[in-house]
Amino acid sequence: MKNICVVGVGYVGLVTGTCFADLGNNVVGIDVNEDKINDLNRGVMPIYEPGLGEMVERNVKAGRLRFTTSYPEALQDAEYVFICVGTPEGVDGEADLRYVRAAAEAVAQHVDHPVVIVNKSTVPVGTGDWVADIVRSKQTKPIHFSVVSCPEFLREGVAIADFMNPDRTVLGSVDQKGAEAVAQLFLPLRRPIVMTDLRTAEMIKYASNAFLATRISFINEISIICERLGADVMEVAQGMGFDKRIGHHFLQAGVGYGGSCFPKDVKALAYMAQTHGMHPQLLNAVMEINDFMRKHVIFKLQDMIGEVKDKKIGILGLAFKENTDDIRESPAITIAQVLLERGAHVRAFDPVAMDNSARVLPQVKMCQNSYEVADGVDALVVVTPWNEFKQLDMAKIRQSMKTPLLIDGRNIYEPSLMHELGFNYSGVGRGYNGTGNR
Ligand code: UDX
Ligand code: UDX
Repeated sequence: MKNICVVGVGYVGLVTGTCFADLGNNVVGIDVNEDKINDLNRGVMPIYEPGLGEMVERNVKAGRLRFTTSYPEALQDAEYVFICVGTPEGVDGEADLRYVRAAAEAVAQHVDHPVVIVNKSTVPVGTGDWVADIVRSKQTKPIHFSVVSCPEFLREGVAIADFMNPDRTVLGSVDQKGAEAVAQLFLPLRRPIVMTDLRTAEMIKYASNAFLATRISFINEISIICERLGADVMEVAQGMGFDKRIGHHFLQAGVGYGGSCFPKDVKALAYMAQTHGMHPQLLNAVMEINDFMRKHVIFKLQDMIGEVKDKKIGILGLAFKENTDDIRESPAITIAQVLLERGAHVRAFDPVAMDNSARVLPQVKMCQNSYEVADGVDALVVVTPWNEFKQLDMAKIRQSMKTPLLIDGRNIYEPSLMHELGFNYSGVGRGYNGTGNR
């Protein structure tokens, strides 16, 4: 049983701290956002993550997990301090590290015993050394500490499973003992642990996310070619995936990737490359293709109904992916904003991301369900592949729409079935112009 402090109880920190508590450790979560801490102390989850609410409640009840806004209280007995604060995109794509700095300074000022500082937030290569410099310069007395990079590989919506059953844990440090101390925390998971130096660990994170983003932009470029040449990208991906060197994962064509990681991390990696004198042409292409996929939806709408001005457009799904309430860099938000700018009337529904979305899309009519979205619209656009959209009564949807244009941004429907129901259907890469006709 170890004493762990988690700084920043967001999508990563709250899952990380709760899972460590579930493994039997003593965990204190600290956050500068008082509302978040008050909610957690009332048993209210600040984020939507399947299974997290029950796990937090069980571990709080067992006395292994608690939340505070006080650094002295949070750090009092801590043997490990996990930094999980936000590292949002700064200017030119450089990661903004002000919150990491604040966390490091707080540790320096409030820790009076040896501690292992663990960087879980995604930070540019070389930041580990930077954190150590900050702690050393801000310490009130020379307390021994080590800094270990332990990048997160949690997918939102399946974050608990990804924590408890990781493909690998990556640990980077100049201090072997520090890295081994962190490895102790992950031994119960009985999964591979990669031990390396700080910079390499930080690069493994960026290179992994950039590669996954590349796969997505690759299959999305193939989907556009499929629309021109009359092939079906879903069957192309299926046929490719049987090659063990390719595999079936992360080859789902659609409106492109969003979230708080891929967009930010690919941009940050390209920025690091550029500021070190190289031209990251592949990373730039990955971002360019991803940006295009959202515009592609607008182009299709204009091709099929002319100008969107004064048209009623319905959007199904606002979160950046299914099973999360996170709308950061969500394709749906971008698409809704462009439609509004062009004078369209937009209505939308998302199973859990409505509150987050309403704050950034005040002009969008937030509906209570998918059928209300479809009522009287000139076009319906599926942007987030929530399960509950997959078996809707599409005949009823078709009847309630003003014109039967259905743009399926995540290929959740079968084109031939949609045509039979009388939809003017367009998926992504499903034959000529995504219509399913080959
Ligand atoms: C964060 C990083 O953004 C991401 O790059 C990294 O890969 C994982 O950690 P996430 O957990 O999604 O991702 O961020 P967010 O949900 O914004 O949570 C960050 C938390 O840190 C917020 O609750 C915020 O209030 C808190 N915070 C921020 C602090 O506690 N102290 C600060 O100084 C700043
Ligand atoms: C990602 C990484 O998977 C995770 O390892 C890292 O720690 C954080 O970033 P996350 O962003 O939560 O996780 O979700 P993920 O499931 O990876 O999806 C990212 C985006 O790519 C979503 O917008 C999703 O819709 C999109 N995507 C994913 C595709 O468009 N096609 C795919 O085949 C897979």
